[in-house]
Amino acid sequence: MHLDPQNSIGVFDSGVGGLTVVRALMERLPFEHIHYFGDTARVPYGVKSVETIGHYTTQIAEFLLEKQVKLLIIACNTMAAVSSQVVRDLSPAPVLDVIEAGALNALAATRSRRIGVIGTPTTVNSNAYGRAIHQVEPNARVVSQACALFVPLVEEGWLDHPVTRLTAQEYLKPVLAEKIDTLVLGCTHYPLLKPLLSEVAGPDVVLVDSAEAMAERTAALLTDLNLHTASRTPAEYHFWVTDVPLRFQAIGERFLGRSLSNVHVVKW
Ligand code: DGL
Repeated sequence: MHLDPQNSIGVFDSGVGGLTVVRALMERLPFEHIHYFGDTARVPYGVKSVETIGHYTTQIAEFLLEKQVKLLIIACNTMAAVSSQVVRDLSPAPVLDVIEAGALNALAATRSRRIGVIGTPTTVNSNAYGRAIHQVEPNARVVSQACALFVPLVEEGWLDHPVTRLTAQEYLKPVLAEKIDTLVLGCTHYPLLKPLLSEVAGPDVVLVDSAEAMAERTAALLTDLNLHTASRTPAEYHFWVTDVPLRFQAIGERFLGRSLSNVHVVKW
């Protein structure tokens, strides 16, 4: 497959959360066109089986490849945790995922090699972050914690709410007891909780935001493959969703930090 630098980057997630990655990409690579896919009809993925997630992931990757994307980004930690190989096997375009980006950034940040990881139950049960970190640093200590309540709290907009603070204190207690110095925010929704999590974790813990890590990795890969667009006109963004877009639009603007247009519904 010929990869054209003028083509778009394909980014996908189970819903609205992957817009944190799109936001980081827009800031880091403002001239790159993006096709974003959010499976809003079937979200959340974080509590679904590996088989189901694999089936959905294949459908989404094939949809974006039909748009001739030059690069596929798995923005969803849950999909990256259990289905990243499925995507790599079918895609003629290069594939990046948030887990490898987050793991590498965590290793760059840690001094003590004691790393905490928080994510959805499926991501944590898969131990994908543990494997990615140990591949590079076998002596690292990785402590993981599933935080199932964070996704609905973020979608509710309770980013600085006493209930969210209490929930975070409860979830982080066992992780912080392990004297970690780095905490990976291993879910698309968690970057929105960064100020609160940073307060709860304290000043000695570095938070690794997988969205920012992803934008850096994307820029580096485009350079390596000579795939940066030459265009200097404003980039075009298209957002594809599987359910009526009202909620996506409202919540999405919070994730993206700007207004959302070009939202299309995919009928499957
Ligand atoms: N996008 C998912 C993730 O990053 C969170 C939402 C879901 O459970 O589908 O893990």
